[in-house]
Amino acid sequence: MRSPLVYLNGKYLPLEEACIPVLDRGFIFGDGVYEVIPVYNGNPFRLPQHLQRLEDSMQAVRIDNPCKRQEWSAIITKVIEENGGGDQSVYLQVTRGVARRDHRFPGDTRPTVFVMSNPVSPVPAGELSEGVAAVTLEDIRWQYCHIKSIALLPNILMRQQAVEQDAVEAILLRDGEVSEGAASNVFIVKEGVILTPPKSERLLPGITRDLVVELAEKHQLPCKETAIGETELLHADEVWLTSSLKEILPVTRLNGQPVSDGRPGPVWQQMYTIYQDYKQALRQNKAGA
Ligand code: PDD
Repeated sequence: MRSPLVYLNGKYLPLEEACIPVLDRGFIFGDGVYEVIPVYNGNPFRLPQHLQRLEDSMQAVRIDNPCKRQEWSAIITKVIEENGGGDQSVYLQVTRGVARRDHRFPGDTRPTVFVMSNPVSPVPAGELSEGVAAVTLEDIRWQYCHIKSIALLPNILMRQQAVEQDAVEAILLRDGEVSEGAASNVFIVKEGVILTPPKSERLLPGITRDLVVELAEKHQLPCKETAIGETELLHADEVWLTSSLKEILPVTRLNGQPVSDGRPGPVWQQMYTIYQDYKQALRQNKAGA
């Protein structure tokens, strides 16, 4: 099989040939930011929103944006095309660059830019028909969770703890309120109303999350961005996880207990269908998607 073609600092090259110096601050400090962009039938999903979030992350950590919007688009488009179009997920990372190890910012370093794409497999049918298990954990992360930082050790530790409890995701609580998942956003449904925590420094402003809120409004499904307490979560009628790779997943077991009757709920079913229609329009490259 041909090796995937990736982009590294101005060059397109096979994955095995893409190397970075060990003094890259991404390697030494986790000093960088990233994006994961799903691609459907060769069409990147919500590209302007992903690029906006990338710019916001770079600005928040004071990395100078090394590319203009059109340049980002051109790199992403070329990587998608070189890897055969279809359904993929693009991973894009920018680090502060290579410098002698020193915590303070280096003076004159160019950011390292890396873009790769991977084939995506559809969400397993069983996860959609049966739902998935999640556990609640204390959110052990820092105070800038709105930045899509590559420093993901707390997220990794929490996800692993969930996996070791036979769950696919950890739902994180800070001061008794839901923030998000270890690598996803969280929605609940109570008495027919869709609820999700408002955007703040406690959570990543998920592109999938925003689309779900937008689609709920468009299709007149009641939806509110509001704080969700632990008790509300544990007594919700439905719990969902959203992310670029999970799309919208129903959680049917929480801390070993069934969520409602332990089946994916009717509001999830409705939203999932609306979301798939949106994706279908994007696949056909229709305006508005
Ligand atoms: N993660 N919250 C966190 C902490 C995340 O890592 C992610 C996504 C999300 C959902 O964001 P979006 O809908 O834009 O994918 C929320 C990606 C997929 C990852 O790290 O692989």
